[in-house]
Amino acid sequence: MPLLAKLFSSQAPSAPGVRPMRLWSLRPKSDREAGDAITSNFVLHWFPAKASRASMAWTYSFWLGTATAALFLVTILSGLPLLLLYVPSVERAYQSVKDIEYVITFGRWLRGVHRISAHVMVVLVVLHLARVFFTGAYKNGIGRNQQRQWNWVIGVVMLLLTLFLSFTGYLLPWDQLAFWAVTVGTNIASSIPWIGPGVRELLIGGRAIEQATLIRFYVLHIVFLPGALGVLFAYHMWRVRKDGGLARADREEIAEVARATPPTPTKTYTLLGVARGTSPAVTARTLEAPGTTVNAVPDLARRAMIVTLGTIALISILAVFIRSPLEEPANALVTPNPAKAPWYFLWLQEIVTDTTLHVFGWFTINGAFLGGVVLPGALITLLTMWPWWDRSPLAATGVWFPRVRRAQNVVFIVLLLAIVLLTYIGMELRGPYWQFYWPWQAWPPVPTRI
Ligand code: HEM
Repeated sequence: MPLLAKLFSSQAPSAPGVRPMRLWSLRPKSDREAGDAITSNFVLHWFPAKASRASMAWTYSFWLGTATAALFLVTILSGLPLLLLYVPSVERAYQSVKDIEYVITFGRWLRGVHRISAHVMVVLVVLHLARVFFTGAYKNGIGRNQQRQWNWVIGVVMLLLTLFLSFTGYLLPWDQLAFWAVTVGTNIASSIPWIGPGVRELLIGGRAIEQATLIRFYVLHIVFLPGALGVLFAYHMWRVRKDGGLARADREEIAEVARATPPTPTKTYTLLGVARGTSPAVTARTLEAPGTTVNAVPDLARRAMIVTLGTIALISILAVFIRSPLEEPANALVTPNPAKAPWYFLWLQEIVTDTTLHVFGWFTINGAFLGGVVLPGALITLLTMWPWWDRSPLAATGVWFPRVRRAQNVVFIVLLLAIVLLTYIGMELRGPYWQFYWPWQAWPPVPTRI
């Protein structure tokens, strides 16, 4: 059989002991063949053999995690050719980006794909987090050795890495937008009492943003942060499998238990049920209950493909129409007024700039400390610890907005809306000297040299 035919074949082996090399098997003719597609193929090995039907519903997870992963893939694929064209030196970085934008064939599109997917990834990772929160999917079901709370913690780290990955990329064009956004962003770090200036120095490699900063951000952006995110992502997915699939699958199982058929306590499934073990701790009864599960090939694999290809197509189209900004070359002597942090840090800038609290008339909490340290620190702690504080019953796991979690959901929504509102104010309603302007109000002329 020619190689291509072998790769895409879904035929049973032609001779005993000889397996066709499969990359994809869209129409398996039996459960056995569906399982074979998983075990004998590199790409599909990713999936479990069976998946809970309910957890695959479009309206359960909205496939936000998969779309985020697809965007991560797109940033890597589009970043690789950019890597060959970009020069990480303060003398040449701006010109190399300008060349990518105006000279290189498809350069503008490539830069657009990279930039848009990075921004959309920030949005989707937050939406994915919100979905996991609202469905209480950081809670364990009744399977053995589940540790969804730790997968949530890994997720929080991945969120921070995503933000930092985007932030380090922001500086690379070395134009005014990049230079001042990073100046404002790193100034927020310097508000930590005592160690703040040291932290900023460590981050930017000196007292000012210059060559040392550029090379530091560049290496973080192309090696360490994507590497760390890739490793954590692999672990994140492995945990989803170890935890018996999405929390929704547990819900089905709990419903089964409620139907009171006695469980088969000794039998657990690993891949294809061939080996005995304790891994995806979904009892045999649920997996065998007709209609509750489907073969991962083709059902799960096909949907994952649709989400991935759809995301790639959407970003590719957006990049044709949306131009990436490139302002004047970076100039430390010309401060734009207002100078704004990247949009995902604007809610912090809003607090840093606006909030100085006077307690009892004599004790002052400085806004930079509040917005740069206390608030983000408290929010990250709150977020990380939430699974241990949430004492809602098992029945509230894997379902959207259950009544018993109403108070938690309200707190989460209020916090999320506050962040979105502050971000919007920072993006659209702040003018020179960080004054508030309605969209219909014109900004007064201001000197740009401060
Ligand atoms: C780069 C960032 C991330 C990627 C690529 C990613 C990817 C995924 C994927 C593909 C899934 C399978 C379900 C789905 O598609 O929704 C998933 C599940 C999960 N993710 Fe993420 N994730 C990321 C960040 C996060 C964050 C920030 C959190 C929370 C703080 C989180 C917590 C979880 C949990 C707890 C599950 C299991 C959900 C369930 O059982 O229903 N992830 N993730």
